[in-house]
Amino acid sequence: MFDAERQETLLEVNNVEVIYNHVILVLKGISLKVPKGGITAILGGNGAGKTTTLKAISNLLASERGEVTKGSISYRGDRISDLNPAALVKRGVIQVMEGRRCFEHLTVEENLLTGAYTRGDGSAAIRRDLEMVYDYFPRLRERRRSQAGYTSGGEQQMCAMGRALMSRPEMILLDEPSMGLAPQLVEQIFQIVKAVNEGEGTTFLLAEQNTNVALRYAHYGYILENGRIVMDGPAAQLRENPDVKEFYLGMSDEGRKSFRDVRSYRRRKRWLA
Ligand SMILES: Nc1ncnc2c1ncn2[C@@H]1O[C@H](COP(=O)(O)OP(=O)(O)OP(=O)(O)O)[C@@H](O)[C@H]1O
Ligand SMILES: [Mg+2]
Repeated sequence: MFDAERQETLLEVNNVEVIYNHVILVLKGISLKVPKGGITAILGGNGAGKTTTLKAISNLLASERGEVTKGSISYRGDRISDLNPAALVKRGVIQVMEGRRCFEHLTVEENLLTGAYTRGDGSAAIRRDLEMVYDYFPRLRERRRSQAGYTSGGEQQMCAMGRALMSRPEMILLDEPSMGLAPQLVEQIFQIVKAVNEGEGTTFLLAEQNTNVALRYAHYGYILENGRIVMDGPAAQLRENPDVKEFYLGMSDEGRKSFRDVRSYRRRKRWLA
């Protein structure tokens, strides 16, 4: 059983602030830790800042006119803010982007092979890892000669994840793997995340709107609202938390409210009582 307390911290995000276009303050001081060998989830609704957090870590903000204006991000104790995404891959950190970006004109297998481009350990090792990916994603083995652009959304998500695995990462940043997929496929994708985590020891930091499924597979969760972390804890505790149940696990018919609404509502209620 994974025990976060006993693991070294791989990634540490400390009080990070992100501003887009010099004026739009999106992350308002985010701090989080990712232990080696765990599955850590960043949860929250549309526009909460999940993708921005992952992009801040992997240095993908510049192309979006975004900038980390405060705080620090370190990996194994070293600041990583000056590393470009390719250098980060060499350090063992790779991001699977939201909306699964495969090269549409390449076959599934060619896509997977592009994931191995930073490696220098020869074709036999790469063939072996291709088999490893196919073992985790049997569907990709079946579809390996198909052009990626013609595969289904679920297969493209698998292809993007498989490509990331081909770089033999220590940590995968996985943005919204459930996006646009039917519930059964979402479950399957998360089962594969768990299998890779357990089988290869790969550390995951994933961003998800689907709190329900993420908290069933993650070990630890951070709930993000409006650029701030409003709650964090072991996934099992968050699953049992009444506010999380009410506002994130889809147990109210009014849709999702904000934690801050609940809190001020409670305060008002206490005031009235
Ligand atoms: N390039 C950008 N320029 C300006 N504002 C941006 C940019 N990218 C994101 N934002 C804003 O930052 C906020 C956080 O966006 P982000 O994409 O990080 O949220 P998210 O939690 O990933 O949401 P979703 O679940 O919809 O993917 C939103 O208000 C969004 O409009
Ligand atoms: Mg997002």
